[in-house]
Amino acid sequence: MTEQAEQKAFSIRGAMDAVGNIVDLHVARGVFVAEAPEGSELIEADGLVVLPGFVDIHTHLREPGFEASETIASGTAAAVAGGYTAVCAMANTDPVTDSVERVESMRKLARTSAHNEVFPIGSLTIDLAGQQLSPIAEMAACGVRLFSDDGRCLMDPVLMRRALELSAAHNVVIAQHSQDHRLAPADACADERSIAGELGLPGWPWAAESSIIARDVQLAELTGGHLHVCHLSTAESVEVVRWAKARGVDVTAEATPHHMLLTSDLLRSGSTDYKVNPPLRSAEDVEAVRAGLVDRTIDLVGTDHAPHEAQFKDLPFPQAKPGMTALEQALSSLMESLLLPGRIDWTDVTRIMSTAPAHRGQVPGQGLGLGVGSPANLVLVHPARRRVVNRDDSASAGRNNPYHGMDLPDPIELTMGAGRILYRR
Ligand code: DOR
Repeated sequence: MTEQAEQKAFSIRGAMDAVGNIVDLHVARGVFVAEAPEGSELIEADGLVVLPGFVDIHTHLREPGFEASETIASGTAAAVAGGYTAVCAMANTDPVTDSVERVESMRKLARTSAHNEVFPIGSLTIDLAGQQLSPIAEMAACGVRLFSDDGRCLMDPVLMRRALELSAAHNVVIAQHSQDHRLAPADACADERSIAGELGLPGWPWAAESSIIARDVQLAELTGGHLHVCHLSTAESVEVVRWAKARGVDVTAEATPHHMLLTSDLLRSGSTDYKVNPPLRSAEDVEAVRAGLVDRTIDLVGTDHAPHEAQFKDLPFPQAKPGMTALEQALSSLMESLLLPGRIDWTDVTRIMSTAPAHRGQVPGQGLGLGVGSPANLVLVHPARRRVVNRDDSASAGRNNPYHGMDLPDPIELTMGAGRILYRR
C-alpha cells in the first residue's frame, strides 16, 4: 500500500453496526482503540452502516502484462471504491505468477502503486499450461496461501491430486476454475440450457462445471486437501458442493455478484459486456446459487473482477474475451439480489464479503471485525441511496461493466484500511 507521511486518528460517530447497534469507533495508529484520541478527526456516520473492510480472493488486476486493461493502481482504486481493503490477485498475468521471484515482484509493484493490500495468488501450473505444477511448496514458504490457474481449469486429475496433496502438506488452498475444456471448449460462450441454441452461439453445458467439481471434491476427500471452487454458476454445482460438505470434505465455494443478479436473457442484447466465464445462466440457476449462499452451501462472494480493454470486447460474441468489471458494484449487486429482498442481512454480508474470504485465503490482518485492537479496516455504507450505473464513472480502467445503465444501490461512502482513509465519496 502507498505510504503516507502521518497516521491520523479518527472518531467515527453514530454508525449502525451489522447487528443494529449504534456505535462510536475510534482509530489510532492503524487499529481500533477504546477512547477518542486527542485531536482525532470526527467522521459523522449517522444513518450509515459500518462493516469490516471487504476482502476479495478473486480479482484480476492484469499487471504485469496487460496494463491497457487494468493496472494495480486502477484495479485497487476500483477495489477501495467498492469497500475492499484487500484483494488477492489472480495469477493469469504476463508473466504468470508461477515462481517465488514473480510473487516478490508483484508484491514490490503493489507496495508502490496499490490503494489497498494486494496478495498475489500463485498459479497452479507453470505458465498456466496445465502440464507441470508450479513450485507450490516454495511459494507457500514465502507466504502464498492460494493457488489457481483461474481462467483455465486444471484438467489433469493426476496433477490435481498432487496439488491437493501439497495443499494439505503446506496448509494452502487450491482454487479451481471448474470447466471441463472438452465439454466447454474455448469458444463456448453461452449457457447451453437456456440461450445458446436460440442465439446460435456455441453452448456451455452445465455438466462441464459440476462434473469437474464432483471430481475435485472426491480428490479432496482422497487427499485431505483444501479445495476452493471458484465462481460456481449452476444448480447442479450447488448440489455437488452440498453433498461434498455433508461428507466432511474441506471444500469452500464462491459465488460472484453477477451470477446472482444477471441472467442469460441479457445476451439477447448482443453486448459482449455480458460475456463472462462461466456464462450467465437461467433464472432457475441464479435462484439456486442465491439459495446456496443463503443456506451456506456457498461460503463467500468473490468478484472475478475481469477488466478487458475495448479492442478485446469489440468483437463478435464468440471471439470477445470473457469477463466483467465487478469490484465497484459488488455490494450494490448483492444488495439488489439478496439484502434488499430480506434474504440476507448485514451480518451475512460481513461473513460472505469479509470474514469468510479472509479466513479461507488466510489473508493477514483482514476479516477480523471492528473490535478494539484489530486493524482498522472498515467500510461505511449508505443503506438506501441508489444511482443509475455509468461505466465512465469507474475507477477501473475496464469499461466492460455489465451494470451500465441499471438503477442499483450506491452504498459505499468511505473505505478505511489500517487506519487510513483509502476512499471517500
Ligand atoms: O470471465 C472470466 N474472465 N472468467 C475467468 O475465469 C477469467 C477471467 C479473465 O481473466 O478474464
